[in-house]
Amino acid sequence: MTTIGLIGSGNIGSTVARLAVDAGYDVVLSNSRGPETLADLVAQLGPHARAATAAEAAEAGDLVLVTVPLHAYRDVPVEPLVGKTVMDTNNYYPDRDGHVDALDRAETTTSSLLAEHLPQSHVVKVFNTIFFVALAQLGRASGADDRSTLPVFGDDAGAKAEVTAFLDAVGYDALDAGTLEESWRAENGRPVYVMPYASDGDVTTPAPGRADVVRDLLARADRDGDPQPAQPMPQG
Ligand SMILES: NC(=O)c1ccc[n+]([C@@H]2O[C@H](COP(=O)([O-])OP(=O)(O)OC[C@H]3O[C@@H](n4cnc5c(N)ncnc54)[C@H](OP(=O)(O)O)[C@@H]3O)[C@@H](O)[C@H]2O)c1
Repeated sequence: MTTIGLIGSGNIGSTVARLAVDAGYDVVLSNSRGPETLADLVAQLGPHARAATAAEAAEAGDLVLVTVPLHAYRDVPVEPLVGKTVMDTNNYYPDRDGHVDALDRAETTTSSLLAEHLPQSHVVKVFNTIFFVALAQLGRASGADDRSTLPVFGDDAGAKAEVTAFLDAVGYDALDAGTLEESWRAENGRPVYVMPYASDGDVTTPAPGRADVVRDLLARADRDGDPQPAQPMPQG
């Protein structure tokens, strides 16, 4: 059985963990405060979930999700992730994360920073464009008319295929949107951020994000233009 390791078990981590358990995966959760603080979540998720340290979760995962605030990305364990596919949900909120000059100058992307930290892993940007409440609700069986599509970015075709298969299993279609360097198109404030999965601009009312809409909004992103103001996703 495939095990999903989670570095971070907050809004997005716990939501992906629930989707993964429901799809038949085992999950190993971790956070900054220690496994004992995850006992309630583990109990809710049931026998296919357990809690561990971040290093142990990284070691246990066949596929690993990094879903911590951007300011903590350098804490992600490096050695246990060598050779693995690492899904990255990070978004940049300067008020939360502090300013990162290279991001402010649009010289890099959040996922490129994680990839520099994990040079022997295959980082794939995914899940960053959808509010966790919508993520919990919009999963559908393969082929359903109202299935949502999530953009994925990465530099390794095999890793993107692995993530695409995981998305399919948890109820989502994947759209290969390019490399990590191109993932600025889906960062905070770009057109595809949050809104495809929100009804009439209300992020708390989920609506299916269709592939043609996601593709169109990705194409409309303009790196030289100012991003729209930060979208109101609750952040840690
Ligand atoms: N909220 C959303 O809907 C959403 C959607 C897409 C993407 N994102 C992005 O995804 C990331 C996570 O968001 P979130 O809303 O899930 O955040 P969150 O609810 O605050 O959860 C963050 C998790 O990361 C853990 N963590 C923090 N520092 C850590 C460290 N050094 N080592 C290990 N674990 C650490 C926290 O553990 P402790 O609680 O023990 O500190 C917590 O479990 C952020 O970059 C966010 O911008 C969020």
